[in-house]
Amino acid sequence: MQQLALQWRQAGTSVSFVPTMGSLHEGHLSLVRRARKAAGSKGKVVVSIYVNPTQFSPAEDLSRYPRDFSRDSQLCRTADVDVLFAPTTTEMYPAREKGAFSTFVAEENLSKSMEGKSRPSHFRGVTTVVAKLFNLVLPQTAVFGAKDFQQAAVIRRMVADLDFPVKIIVAPTIREQDGLAMSSRNKFLKGLRRQQAAMLWETIRKAREIVRASTRRISSQQLRRRLEKPFAGLPGVRVDYIEFFDPETLQPLNSVSRGAQIALAVFIGPTRLIDNGLL
Ligand code: PAF
Repeated sequence: MQQLALQWRQAGTSVSFVPTMGSLHEGHLSLVRRARKAAGSKGKVVVSIYVNPTQFSPAEDLSRYPRDFSRDSQLCRTADVDVLFAPTTTEMYPAREKGAFSTFVAEENLSKSMEGKSRPSHFRGVTTVVAKLFNLVLPQTAVFGAKDFQQAAVIRRMVADLDFPVKIIVAPTIREQDGLAMSSRNKFLKGLRRQQAAMLWETIRKAREIVRASTRRISSQQLRRRLEKPFAGLPGVRVDYIEFFDPETLQPLNSVSRGAQIALAVFIGPTRLIDNGLL
């Protein structure tokens, strides 16, 4: 991959990159379309598929993450992707298997709250693998989804702090008809669980309504309590967090008004879903 990328660079070819963990859906395909727009018709679009073990904690089931390589590669073909880069873990972390891998990239501020609090080693794994992928694919632009709002902010920070010559584009979340944000993990949701999953989007909409209807700032604690109510008592459903924060700095807000960002994570049975939106 890196040799090819170096050849492209020498030839002045522009490269736009969409890193994924596979199990592709319409949300990913919208990122691919955005990447094509950035690369231009003469440029190259690279998609990577790699389920990165360093962003999963030992308690999280890496082996349970959905994988469907033949369907994914077919989708990439029809989506006009130039290169599908799907390395194995031996290729990505050769030293790790010998216990010798010892260099990580860690963002130490934005990555501490929300997802970082619930999944402490997660972002270190993400920034490390994204840095490695950027060094292999050598893209001028990379496209990430807004569904992973905090991830996009952490990656922007990493790129700015470590001078990666990569422009980060964040593309809008694509939703199902009932508002559920598209995610590879949605495959786990069947019947009642699938219906309950729409509650994340309903929570964001309700928060918007409340904030729009209010002439004063609302205490985050009060708003959180109101938004948590519909989840109470549902067997197997658990709110991990509902947070309100400044979308630029990710600083938590004690009180909320228009322009604040909401993010939430909810366990729907064993499946943990996240979503976010601007209020
Ligand atoms: O968002 C994802 O799918 C992953 O976190 C990423 C960016 C591909 C890194 O493994």
